[in-house]
Amino acid sequence: MPGSPAPATSSVLDHVALRRDPGRYGLALRPAGADREEIWMEGVPLARVAEAVGTPTYVYGASAIRDRYRALHDALGGRPLRLCYAVKANDCQAILRLLAGLGAGADIVSGGELARALAAGFPGERVVFSGVGKTDAEIDQALAAGVGTINAESPEELAQISGRAARAGVTARVALRINPDVSPKTHPYLATGLREAKFGMPMDEGFEAALRAAQDPNLELVGLACHIGSQIAEADPFLQSLRHLGDMMGRLAEQGVRLSQLDLGGGLAIPYAGDDPELDVAAWGRALADATAALDLTLVLEPGRYLVGNAGVLLTRVVGRKTNGPRRFVVVDAAMNDLIRPALYQAYHAIVPLDLPSDPPMEVVDVVGPVCETGDFLALQRPQVVARPGDVLAVLSAGAYGASMASTYNSRPLPAEVVVDGDQLHVVRPRQTVEDLLARDVVPAR
Ligand code: LLP
Repeated sequence: MPGSPAPATSSVLDHVALRRDPGRYGLALRPAGADREEIWMEGVPLARVAEAVGTPTYVYGASAIRDRYRALHDALGGRPLRLCYAVKANDCQAILRLLAGLGAGADIVSGGELARALAAGFPGERVVFSGVGKTDAEIDQALAAGVGTINAESPEELAQISGRAARAGVTARVALRINPDVSPKTHPYLATGLREAKFGMPMDEGFEAALRAAQDPNLELVGLACHIGSQIAEADPFLQSLRHLGDMMGRLAEQGVRLSQLDLGGGLAIPYAGDDPELDVAAWGRALADATAALDLTLVLEPGRYLVGNAGVLLTRVVGRKTNGPRRFVVVDAAMNDLIRPALYQAYHAIVPLDLPSDPPMEVVDVVGPVCETGDFLALQRPQVVARPGDVLAVLSAGAYGASMASTYNSRPLPAEVVVDGDQLHVVRPRQTVEDLLARDVVPAR
């Protein structure tokens, strides 16, 4: 249809993908009567969460997050490593605390994220501060917290950090964010390391900036950094970045500038659709560990999605059904303001009913929310298990960039967020209320 976004598709039906490997989505299926199954997260049926907390609600599995963290950590073997969780993926205090407790560091991009990370117990020195456009106030805040590394994104920003450090009477530990000009082969919005990207600096400019930074008494240049994009399912783009940055480190060493840290950013892929490949994290880690074995430095990684993406689902209730010409719609109570990824990136999120018959009737539908935008959809032209008003659906792989990108568009309060740990259910962010929204408004007196 002209003007309509192309549907994201999968060659494997969503409920078939779930049945094949529920663990991949942080879930389990348990029999519920002779010819049906229900979806559980750890020791809790998701239907119980929907009943207790309502919908739309994000639910995250604590064990799945712990398992992912340990798998990634172990994959890199014994090499000096700092895994800095990208707070932007999911910034719930409960999840930040869990990761801080496991020994993770934090990758932050704003003063707000710094405050959240410190509140959750990440020590300042385990924090990496990335991001284009740091304000003076944010740099001051980072210096006061003693953050481990500020990743400078341009020569101008390097000068800004130097100035703020001089004012504060401290030395700022910095790394330079370089664009290795490596294509991550991903959605254009998710590619960040190309030469013309707004992030980081090109190699040649970065080299000159590094020489200058090494001479600056207000700065301690500790390393180089990059982040080439997201949803990278192979080791190769990381190895290419590593080669480029490793070469540059070698050339800097020849000039007497020795660096101790190499930050390869985040971007590890997770499966969304049933036919998406699963990253072989053990092989990926081995490849990276081998390639850095000869380098005497600490490897920093900034994974966000990999740690939390598959560990979360969004529960939503079917509000109604309608048919317009040839098109069938299932209207649900979650919308683009709750989960914007389908609208923004044509992202695929598998959708399954919590109550799953063994041989379910199927239909092709658009799953849409109530927001007044044509772009408000969770799935387009998707073969789905037939869903009736009142049924609760789980939108899978919604743990990363779901709640953290939510808005209150159409005066829709932010959804509730729940962490499941074993058989315990914790509401870690209560549902926002319309009263909360109204309370923000101030009407000038006349
Ligand atoms: N480090 C830096 C400097 C980043 O900019 C990002 C993500 C990460 C680490 C973490 O990337 P991850 O491991 O999560 O892929 N909203 C988009 C993703 C935008 C990511 C932006 N930067 C989405 O929903 O797919």
